[in-house]
Amino acid sequence: MEITKTPKDSAVETRHIVMPDHANHYGTLFGGILMSWIDLIAVMVAQRHCGREAVTASVDKLNFLEPISVGDHVILKASANYTGRSSMEIGVQVSKENPYTGKTVRATTAYLTFVALDENKKPCPIPKLQPETDMEKRRFQNAILRQESNRELLKKIKEKGIP
Ligand SMILES: CC(C)(COP(=O)(O)OP(=O)(O)OC[C@H]1O[C@@H](n2cnc3c(N)ncnc32)[C@H](O)[C@@H]1OP(=O)(O)O)[C@@H](O)C(=O)NCCC(=O)NCCS
Repeated sequence: MEITKTPKDSAVETRHIVMPDHANHYGTLFGGILMSWIDLIAVMVAQRHCGREAVTASVDKLNFLEPISVGDHVILKASANYTGRSSMEIGVQVSKENPYTGKTVRATTAYLTFVALDENKKPCPIPKLQPETDMEKRRFQNAILRQESNRELLKKIKEKGIP
């Protein structure tokens, strides 16, 4: 029987506080630190979905919508949007929270693709994603569009030869 999992089965939520050594020279959270937090939460979702080693194949989209200040809380929520045979798109939503007022603002969104590897480090089949809610279904459909355009682009680049 084919194994299926829902986005909720592997979803992860984490929180950080922005310390001075996370900041750039403008006094806001350095993008590279945030990118590592995004990659970390996304790989945890990927591992939980496929139950094995998963590697980042691509960062498909990263939108820095709002700067995040030192002292802010950074809330990351990640879940699987879509699965192929061995690949998974993971969506990450990042919000900043003022810990004193509780005001929360969406700061960054990201989509990453992970690939599950078998014992020989080769891509291998993973459980199929079964979206349940309307939002999960919408994310699944949008992810298909992104994955199709990624595959087309990757194919064209491979045909031309990677420089
Ligand atoms: C990702 C990787 C395993 C893909 O290996 P590959 O031999 O090219 O894999 P395949 O061509 O057989 O494709 C396997 C799957 O990966 C997907 N894929 C491959 N390259 C991809 C890319 N650049 N972006 C998105 N998806 C990709 C394919 O679409 C396919 O998906 P599907 O099985 O769901 O249909 C390989 O390129 C790799 O090991 N890259 C380095 C990963 C890494 O070191 N990451 C950073 C640290 S974790």
